[in-house]
Amino acid sequence: MAQESTAAIEIISHSPAETRRIGRHLGKLLQPGDLLLLEGPFGAGKTVLTQGIAKGAGVEEVVSSPSFTLINEYQAGKAPRQVRVYHADLYRIHGADEALALGLDEYLAGRGIFIAEWPENVAEVWPSERLWIRLRLGKGDERIIDLDAQGMRYVQLLGELERELRREAKG
Ligand SMILES: Nc1ncnc2c1ncn2[C@@H]1O[C@H](COP(=O)(O)OP(=O)(O)OP(=O)(O)O)[C@@H](O)[C@H]1O
Ligand SMILES: [Mg+2]
Repeated sequence: MAQESTAAIEIISHSPAETRRIGRHLGKLLQPGDLLLLEGPFGAGKTVLTQGIAKGAGVEEVVSSPSFTLINEYQAGKAPRQVRVYHADLYRIHGADEALALGLDEYLAGRGIFIAEWPENVAEVWPSERLWIRLRLGKGDERIIDLDAQGMRYVQLLGELERELRREAKG
Protein backbone atom coordinates (compact mmCIF):
# COMPACT_ATOMS: atom_id res chain seq x y z
CA MET A 1 0.00 0.00 0.00
CA ALA A 2 1.29 3.44 -0.88
CA GLN A 3 1.98 5.60 2.16
CA GLU A 4 -0.27 8.54 2.78
CA SER A 5 1.39 11.79 1.71
CA THR A 6 -1.20 14.27 2.93
CA ALA A 7 -2.59 14.91 6.39
CA ALA A 8 -4.47 17.68 8.13
CA ILE A 9 -5.32 18.69 11.68
CA GLU A 10 -7.23 21.56 13.23
CA ILE A 11 -6.26 23.21 16.50
CA ILE A 12 -8.18 25.89 18.37
CA SER A 13 -6.17 28.48 20.25
CA HIS A 14 -7.80 30.63 22.92
CA SER A 15 -5.05 33.17 23.57
CA PRO A 16 -1.82 34.59 22.12
CA ALA A 17 0.07 32.57 24.74
CA GLU A 18 -1.57 29.38 23.54
CA THR A 19 -0.74 30.18 19.93
CA ARG A 20 2.89 30.75 20.95
CA ARG A 21 2.91 27.45 22.82
CA ILE A 22 1.58 25.56 19.79
CA GLY A 23 4.27 27.28 17.74
CA ARG A 24 6.97 26.26 20.21
CA HIS A 25 5.98 22.62 19.98
CA LEU A 26 6.07 22.81 16.20
CA GLY A 27 9.38 24.70 16.18
CA LYS A 28 11.07 22.03 18.31
CA LEU A 29 10.28 19.42 15.66
CA LEU A 30 11.67 21.35 12.69
CA GLN A 31 14.63 20.31 10.58
CA PRO A 32 16.84 22.22 8.13
CA GLY A 33 15.01 22.75 4.85
CA ASP A 34 11.51 22.76 6.34
CA LEU A 35 8.95 25.08 4.74
CA LEU A 36 6.00 26.54 6.67
CA LEU A 37 3.41 28.73 4.96
CA LEU A 38 1.14 30.85 7.17
CA GLU A 39 -2.04 32.14 5.59
CA GLY A 40 -4.69 34.26 7.28
CA PRO A 41 -6.12 37.80 7.49
CA PHE A 42 -4.58 40.74 9.38
CA GLY A 43 -4.31 40.00 13.07
CA ALA A 44 -4.96 36.29 12.64
CA GLY A 45 -1.82 35.50 14.58
CA LYS A 46 0.68 34.55 11.87
CA THR A 47 3.48 36.54 13.49
CA VAL A 48 2.54 35.40 17.00
CA LEU A 49 2.66 31.78 15.81
CA THR A 50 6.01 32.44 14.10
CA GLN A 51 7.41 33.83 17.36
CA GLY A 52 6.59 30.53 19.03
CA ILE A 53 7.95 28.49 16.15
CA ALA A 54 11.24 30.40 16.12
CA LYS A 55 11.61 30.04 19.88
CA GLY A 56 10.96 26.31 19.66
CA ALA A 57 13.53 26.02 16.87
CA GLY A 58 16.10 27.67 19.13
CA VAL A 59 16.09 31.31 18.04
CA GLU A 60 17.04 33.46 21.03
CA GLU A 61 16.48 36.84 19.40
CA VAL A 62 13.09 38.55 19.57
CA VAL A 63 11.17 37.82 16.38
CA SER A 64 9.29 40.82 15.02
CA SER A 65 7.15 41.34 11.95
CA PRO A 66 9.29 41.66 8.80
CA SER A 67 6.73 43.96 7.14
CA PHE A 68 9.31 46.44 5.80
CA THR A 69 12.37 44.23 5.48
CA LEU A 70 10.26 41.48 3.81
CA ILE A 71 12.58 38.71 5.03
CA ASN A 72 14.21 38.52 8.45
CA GLU A 73 16.99 36.07 9.15
CA TYR A 74 17.77 34.44 12.49
CA GLN A 75 20.34 32.00 13.75
CA ALA A 76 19.26 29.03 15.85
CA GLY A 77 21.26 26.48 17.77
CA LYS A 78 25.01 26.08 18.14
CA ALA A 79 27.56 24.73 15.67
CA PRO A 80 27.64 22.09 14.26
CA ARG A 81 23.85 21.97 14.55
CA GLN A 82 23.30 25.58 13.64
CA VAL A 83 20.37 26.39 11.39
CA ARG A 84 19.11 29.62 9.86
CA VAL A 85 15.49 30.55 10.30
CA TYR A 86 13.95 32.88 7.72
CA HIS A 87 10.71 34.76 8.35
CA ALA A 88 9.16 36.38 5.29
CA ASP A 89 6.19 38.75 5.02
CA LEU A 90 5.00 38.60 1.41
CA TYR A 91 2.10 41.00 1.84
CA ARG A 92 3.60 43.38 -0.71
CA ILE A 93 4.81 40.70 -3.12
CA HIS A 94 2.63 39.45 -5.94
CA GLY A 95 3.36 36.76 -8.48
CA ALA A 96 6.33 34.65 -9.49
CA ASP A 97 8.39 37.50 -11.01
CA GLU A 98 8.40 39.55 -7.83
CA ALA A 99 9.13 36.42 -5.81
CA LEU A 100 12.12 35.72 -8.04
CA ALA A 101 13.35 39.31 -7.67
CA LEU A 102 13.24 38.79 -3.92
CA GLY A 103 15.41 35.70 -4.32
CA LEU A 104 12.76 33.37 -2.95
CA ASP A 105 13.96 30.45 -5.08
CA GLU A 106 17.42 30.68 -3.50
CA TYR A 107 16.00 30.68 0.00
CA LEU A 108 13.91 27.65 -0.90
CA ALA A 109 16.88 25.80 -2.34
CA GLY A 110 18.88 26.44 0.83
CA ARG A 111 19.11 24.50 4.08
CA GLY A 112 17.35 26.97 6.29
CA ILE A 113 13.94 26.76 7.90
CA PHE A 114 11.65 29.02 5.89
CA ILE A 115 8.45 30.55 7.31
CA ALA A 116 6.30 32.83 5.14
CA GLU A 117 3.25 34.99 5.83
CA TRP A 118 0.87 35.74 2.91
CA PRO A 119 2.08 32.71 0.89
CA GLU A 120 -1.11 32.85 -1.22
CA ASN A 121 0.29 35.98 -2.94
CA VAL A 122 2.88 33.83 -4.70
CA ALA A 123 1.04 30.51 -4.64
CA GLU A 124 2.75 29.34 -7.84
CA VAL A 125 6.31 29.39 -6.44
CA TRP A 126 5.98 26.90 -3.58
CA PRO A 127 7.15 23.33 -3.89
CA SER A 128 4.33 20.80 -3.57
CA GLU A 129 5.77 19.49 -0.30
CA ARG A 130 5.16 21.92 2.56
CA LEU A 131 3.17 22.55 5.70
CA TRP A 132 0.43 25.06 4.84
CA ILE A 133 -1.10 26.62 7.94
CA ARG A 134 -4.35 28.61 7.75
CA LEU A 135 -5.42 30.79 10.66
CA ARG A 136 -8.97 32.06 11.05
CA LEU A 137 -10.46 34.47 13.56
CA GLY A 138 -12.97 32.97 15.96
CA LYS A 139 -14.91 34.69 18.71
CA GLY A 140 -12.78 37.07 20.79
CA ASP A 141 -9.29 35.68 21.18
CA GLU A 142 -10.16 32.39 19.56
CA ARG A 143 -8.10 31.39 16.52
CA ILE A 144 -8.79 28.34 14.39
CA ILE A 145 -5.56 26.91 13.08
CA ASP A 146 -5.71 24.42 10.21
CA LEU A 147 -2.50 22.61 9.40
CA ASP A 148 -2.31 20.92 6.03
CA ALA A 149 0.68 18.69 5.35
CA GLN A 150 1.74 17.70 1.88
CA GLY A 151 4.61 15.27 1.43
CA MET A 152 6.01 12.55 3.69
CA ARG A 153 8.23 14.88 5.70
CA TYR A 154 5.31 17.11 6.67
CA VAL A 155 2.90 14.26 7.32
CA GLN A 156 5.49 12.91 9.76
CA LEU A 157 5.95 16.36 11.29
CA LEU A 158 2.21 16.77 11.80
CA GLY A 159 1.99 13.34 13.43
CA GLU A 160 4.76 14.29 15.86
CA LEU A 161 3.07 17.62 16.63
CA GLU A 162 -0.23 15.90 17.31
CA ARG A 163 1.48 13.49 19.74
CA GLU A 164 3.24 16.39 21.51
CA LEU A 165 0.02 18.35 21.92
CA ARG A 166 -1.82 15.28 23.20
CA ARG A 167 0.99 14.59 25.68
CA GLU A 168 0.80 18.19 26.88
CA ALA A 169 -2.99 18.04 27.26
CA LYS A 170 -2.66 14.90 29.40
CA GLY A 171 0.23 16.08 31.58
N1 LIG B 1 -5.44 33.19 20.10
C1 LIG B 1 -4.64 34.16 19.60
N2 LIG B 1 -3.56 33.82 18.89
C2 LIG B 1 -2.77 34.75 18.36
N3 LIG B 1 -2.95 36.07 18.47
C3 LIG B 1 -4.02 36.49 19.16
C4 LIG B 1 -4.91 35.55 19.76
N4 LIG B 1 -5.89 36.23 20.39
C5 LIG B 1 -5.63 37.52 20.20
N5 LIG B 1 -4.51 37.70 19.47
C6 LIG B 1 -3.96 38.99 19.05
O1 LIG B 1 -4.08 39.08 17.64
C7 LIG B 1 -2.97 39.75 17.11
C8 LIG B 1 -2.24 38.86 16.12
O2 LIG B 1 -1.25 39.64 15.53
P1 LIG B 1 -0.20 39.09 14.48
O3 LIG B 1 0.75 40.21 14.24
O4 LIG B 1 0.36 37.79 14.93
O5 LIG B 1 -1.13 38.85 13.22
P2 LIG B 1 -0.68 38.54 11.74
O6 LIG B 1 -1.53 37.41 11.30
O7 LIG B 1 0.79 38.35 11.68
O8 LIG B 1 -1.13 39.86 10.98
P3 LIG B 1 -0.46 40.64 9.73
O9 LIG B 1 -1.11 40.09 8.50
O10 LIG B 1 -0.81 42.06 9.97
O11 LIG B 1 1.02 40.39 9.75
C9 LIG B 1 -2.09 40.15 18.27
O12 LIG B 1 -2.42 41.46 18.66
C10 LIG B 1 -2.49 39.16 19.35
O13 LIG B 1 -2.30 39.66 20.65
MG1 LIG C 1 2.32 39.28 10.65
